[in-house]
Amino acid sequence: MSCPFAPALPAPAPSATAAAPLAQRLDQVFPQLVTDRYRSIEDPQLVREILRHAQEFTPANALQAAVELEPATLRILARGRFALPPVLASASGAEHLAVRRVVAGFFSPAKVAQQREFIAERTRELCAGLRERYRWGDEVDLAQELAAVIPPEVMARMSGTTIPPMDQLKGWSRDSLELFWGWPDARRQQELAHSAVGYHTWLRGSVDEALKRDDGNLYSALHHAGVDRARIVSLAYFLGIAGQETTAMLIQGALFTALHDGRWSRCAAAEGGDAASDSVVHEVLLHASSVPTWRRVVLSDTTLAGQNFSAGEELVLRLSGGAVAESGDDSLVFGFGLHRCLGAGLARMETEVVLRQAAGALPDIELSDPSPGWRHLISFQTPEAVITRRKRTRERSA
Ligand code: HEM
Repeated sequence: MSCPFAPALPAPAPSATAAAPLAQRLDQVFPQLVTDRYRSIEDPQLVREILRHAQEFTPANALQAAVELEPATLRILARGRFALPPVLASASGAEHLAVRRVVAGFFSPAKVAQQREFIAERTRELCAGLRERYRWGDEVDLAQELAAVIPPEVMARMSGTTIPPMDQLKGWSRDSLELFWGWPDARRQQELAHSAVGYHTWLRGSVDEALKRDDGNLYSALHHAGVDRARIVSLAYFLGIAGQETTAMLIQGALFTALHDGRWSRCAAAEGGDAASDSVVHEVLLHASSVPTWRRVVLSDTTLAGQNFSAGEELVLRLSGGAVAESGDDSLVFGFGLHRCLGAGLARMETEVVLRQAAGALPDIELSDPSPGWRHLISFQTPEAVITRRKRTRERSA
């Protein structure tokens, strides 16, 4: 029992991750048209069971628009020859496994480890460029200057494929995220559809160029494994988003959390800096991952763990935040079973290294906006920005 005369301790300030929108009950955060269509599954045990039963609970809706697209939007997509035939994340059975094997070869633990030094070096180089701007008193958004830059470069190195200019890539991938995982109104859908067609057209050219080069890059490896061009483009589209935008958002969350929660200098420390960075990344994944949910669709009427599911029912599964965070176990955050994320090791290592190196290279910075608000869609979330400035002189470290 606590002493009744002891002075009450001030409550610890809430972590940045407490503000993550999808950490709250999903049916309370999603708009009505999403809750009408999807059944949210919050219980981590049930989520694991659903993912384990991949034949009954298929990922066929993984790349479908979260809400109905208007006929005018579909016409824009069709005119632009936009198509996402099922492949990898949205495919099942033998076809899924064959493609998964090829892609997994490009992201093996050994190949991921080989990127560590590049990521560290590139982070230090980008931070060296930012130091001058801090000295001039500028505010710097680390989301744009750091988090957005490194993941596409790493993906290009590992897959042997090209990426569009950064501004274009960011615009395209964010628009596609909103079109397929958001709830845009009719007018916005049309704008996003034009952007998605632009991205898809660019990817078709990039796939053709990679197939012609035939130098062991990911697209030519898929071609040699018998995957048709339309499916290679569909996979390129998914990887453009899954491989870089999700990682950029996780890095953004980790930088923001370390700065917000007063853990930046611990991440910079020569001794214990690696462990401190690991612990921030673990916490962000557990409470406020960039991909806190994923979707499944029920193939036929079935009962699992005492719950009834009907054919065609669409589910949103919680992978981070809520009851998953309470369990303290982050093993669900990259999915589970046959479709578990192939970039899990890469995304985690990349985020830890960027955080560790950035904290070491920029020890004297602080957030200029500690409550930037969060963006969220049905399966993605991130703080809007990580706006930083040089610490005021009095507070600066010696
Ligand atoms: C923070 C970063 C990332 C997060 C949180 C994340 C999360 C996820 C999740 C939740 C799934 C679905 C799992 C399921 O259906 O059970 C998934 C699938 C996938 N992810 Fe990631 N991902 C990230 C980064 C990456 C990266 C860097 C790559 C690059 C290789 C990648 C490649 C994939 C692929 C290929 C799949 C589909 C696997 C399959 O269907 O067999 N992801 N990811």
